[in-house]
Amino acid sequence: MVDLVEQSKKLAAYKAVDENLKPSDKYIGIGSGSTVVYVAERIGQLKRPELVCVPTGFQSKDLIISNGLTLGSIDQYCDLDVAFDGADEIDSQLNLIKGGGACLFQEKLVASCSKKFVVVADYRKKSPEKLGYGWKKGVPIEVVPSAYPKLLREFVSLKGKPTLRSGLPGKAGPIVTDNGNFILDVDFGEIPVEKVESLNSTIKALCGVVETGFFVNMTSKVYIGEENGEVLKID
Ligand code: A5P
Repeated sequence: MVDLVEQSKKLAAYKAVDENLKPSDKYIGIGSGSTVVYVAERIGQLKRPELVCVPTGFQSKDLIISNGLTLGSIDQYCDLDVAFDGADEIDSQLNLIKGGGACLFQEKLVASCSKKFVVVADYRKKSPEKLGYGWKKGVPIEVVPSAYPKLLREFVSLKGKPTLRSGLPGKAGPIVTDNGNFILDVDFGEIPVEKVESLNSTIKALCGVVETGFFVNMTSKVYIGEENGEVLKID
């Protein structure tokens, strides 16, 4: 039986690579998560040894290597031609929530170093009018560990419900990011599209916040694999 979600991820990823990786491109950002697996697979099939792929975390690095691609790092190459990544939620202005895999800081760093940021997702990720109510609740926020108790208090003052991400099988205590930080998942309820930018700025101004999972005004194009086998392109 065909797994519709997997099929839609693969179709979106292959189309995004085929339409956005140009013959002149050389430096490519590779995001994290289960959809980007198909991005790396497709780029690997193209047999372009001149490409240098820059990862957004441990899983992404592994994907680059296992698909026979050349690995670079963001401190070597901070001027990328295009970056591909997944998303947890996508609104009508192409604002995103990311960080379901706890890689949001490096994902945002790589995206912000790219001329073009292309997002690939399955049909469950569409949140046209509001963010924060999608199939995963809340906004992931990467924080410095020593600051997390005071940030818990501050997020409550902002009318959020923060949870320290923990409970990974085989790991007692909080999940630690690739940068040695914690993740707070903060449920702000439904966030209307027009409020995303100001909420993001408010959170970013708090001492101890490394990065938020809001990606505002960063996305060039989105490819969404639909249930009917089509791919919706939005730019
Ligand atoms: C990783 O931190 C995330 O931002 C992922 O890119 C996001 O959660 C999408 O992941 P999937 O492609 O697995 O849905």
